[in-house]
Amino acid sequence: MSDDYIFDVKNVTLRFGGVVSLNDVSLHQNRGEILAVIGPNGAGKTSLFNSLTGVYRPQVGTITFSGEPGHSVSVIGRKPHLLNGAGIARTFQASRMFSALTTYENVKIGAESHKGLGAVGAMLGGPATRRGEKLSDSRTWELLDFVGLRAEANTLSASLSYGARRRLEIARGLATNPKVLLLDEPAAGTNPAEKLELTSLIRKVRDRMGVSILLIEHDMKMVMSLAERLYVLNFGGVIAEGTPEEIRANDAVVVAYLGSSDTGEAAQPSPSETEDTDAQG
Ligand SMILES: Nc1ncnc2c1ncn2[C@@H]1O[C@H](COP(=O)(O)OP(=O)(O)OP(=O)(O)O)[C@@H](O)[C@H]1O
Ligand SMILES: [Mg+2]
Repeated sequence: MSDDYIFDVKNVTLRFGGVVSLNDVSLHQNRGEILAVIGPNGAGKTSLFNSLTGVYRPQVGTITFSGEPGHSVSVIGRKPHLLNGAGIARTFQASRMFSALTTYENVKIGAESHKGLGAVGAMLGGPATRRGEKLSDSRTWELLDFVGLRAEANTLSASLSYGARRRLEIARGLATNPKVLLLDEPAAGTNPAEKLELTSLIRKVRDRMGVSILLIEHDMKMVMSLAERLYVLNFGGVIAEGTPEEIRANDAVVVAYLGSSDTGEAAQPSPSETEDTDAQG
């Protein structure tokens, strides 16, 4: 059987002037997978998300999104709202909902609506209607139930706890019926109990809705319990890929997180430095 990737990123390089945010990044996400991207601050994780969602335009490489098996689109050069319509939804590292609206209103106007126009414009039929319509009442309630916020439907979102805000952002992402949901530090600012709630909610999004999950998260306990596979970025490049067990045991990852190596010993040669013996030949 051939590979079934929802995202296929090949040799992507993204520069801002002299800063290389992504350096020849190649990675893929299997359809239905909970995949994580980890790495130190400034490693390029959010830049990757921005490239996958059309916010940034890498100078080099290709990004292919396949919302359905056998149907794929090229991401680079496409606008964020078109990619959102094609099935790519995201939450942001910093909260971007309308704090003057209630929980219910925030879900109803949809995740797309925060772009460009203010809350009033969105409520009056601004960009939420770009995709056709606001969410129906029944679908809004369904999503509030799904994320456990029915009881807080009429609470101003500014008054919600951090954990509830994060769940609201996930509901807003789901409002566009995505095939993949990109979560940029979904547990930032939350307490341990809220982290556990978010962990099971994210798993439920994949298991019950069939939405693939791409996750950036600094909390190692959370990321290792959720992710089926991980990529590690450092200085814009992929330095490791593997299952949680493989990543925990990876020396390069340990060094990247602890800063420079203090072992003082010669490093093992990496596979690319060893002689190519072509043992099969
Ligand atoms: N719009 C931009 N203009 C200039 N430089 C940028 C821009 N976006 C990102 N960068 C640079 O790209 C590099 C990677 O940043 P990025 O935000 O992707 O890191 P990150 O891994 O998400 O970090 P963090 O864990 O702190 O969120 C940084 O050096 C950053 O300054
Ligand atoms: Mg970031």
